[in-house]
Amino acid sequence: MTASLPMDSIAPLRHFVTEMTQLIDQSQEESFLRPKAKALLRELISTDQWLPEFCTVPHPQYYQQFLLHADPLERFSVISFVWGPGQATPIHDHMVWGLIGILRGSEKVQRYQRDQNGSLKPIGEEETLLPGDIDDVSPATRDIHLVKNAFTDKTSIGIHVYGGNIGGVQRHVYDPSTGAIKNFVSGYSSTQIPNIWDRSAQIRAQLG
Ligand code: FE2
Repeated sequence: MTASLPMDSIAPLRHFVTEMTQLIDQSQEESFLRPKAKALLRELISTDQWLPEFCTVPHPQYYQQFLLHADPLERFSVISFVWGPGQATPIHDHMVWGLIGILRGSEKVQRYQRDQNGSLKPIGEEETLLPGDIDDVSPATRDIHLVKNAFTDKTSIGIHVYGGNIGGVQRHVYDPSTGAIKNFVSGYSSTQIPNIWDRSAQIRAQLG
């Protein structure tokens, strides 16, 4: 236990995982899950001391994707996405639905659409997301975007939820000038995941 954190500080993440698992047992339909998952994510990102320190560390060169939880049946995953100053993704898609909640700092998002001859066109203006904001992606409607840290001098962190084990999904990056597609699989930035299942503090407190 870290002295500066309250006992069972990971409880909000465990609550999110438990609630999401119960929802996804009812249905894997995006239209059913999205609004409910969004409400749970809003609650999760309303505080941030639950996020373990090792899932907050930026890399000097690459944005980091720390797996917080993967459903055992790979029906959903939760990620801590850590941006170093000035870091950006290529233009990419997801192939599963996703929710992007901002925990710390700020992200800028530009959406794209691929037309019939394969060229990419920006949709709308670049949007700025602030702590508490939640953006979404969906293969059914809008799945292609470029995301970057809004700050060139500090870290930003997003908590992402996807309708699959996102680190193992075959996805695509797009060349902005030609629209040419390349396959990619993101993987994860660490072999560690947080332990959300140590209930000993809670149980000891009940024992008195
Ligand atoms: Fe993305």
